[in-house]
Amino acid sequence: MEYSEKVMDHFANPRNIGEIEDANGVGEVGNPKCGDIMKIYLKIDNNKISDVKFKTFGCGAAIATSSMATELIKGKSIDEALKVTNRAVMEALDGLPPVKVHCSVLAEEAIKAAISDYYRRNGIDPEPIVGKIGSCCSKDGGCFAEEN
Ligand code: FES
Repeated sequence: MEYSEKVMDHFANPRNIGEIEDANGVGEVGNPKCGDIMKIYLKIDNNKISDVKFKTFGCGAAIATSSMATELIKGKSIDEALKVTNRAVMEALDGLPPVKVHCSVLAEEAIKAAISDYYRRNGIDPEPIVGKIGSCCSKDGGCFAEEN
């Protein structure tokens, strides 16, 4: 299995690791495929992600994709952050081995969960905006990301 230099770099030196104490959006998701867990903290000011941190109990690919995903959404508007898909994160990392694609979904879902939490705290129903979290997974826990 080959990892790109960018994956190795983000795995060895993850950006934005930690917690934000006064976060106003927090999302935690589990990967049904492997049981790994990811938590993302967002600080959102005027619709803009002014800060983001993450913690994960996950594999190296999950760490690298989360690190890259946080870099991609930092300073962006909520709308722009929601457009950061696992595919975009993988591209930014110069790809992932096929068996590790499901790991990249964890970061995308955790960001969506944190943005949903932010909306809920503000009395807004997030589902029409963010969509369902976990919709990438089939009922038996399989990951659609692998199939397409
Ligand atoms: Fe679980 Fe990668 S093996 S996130």
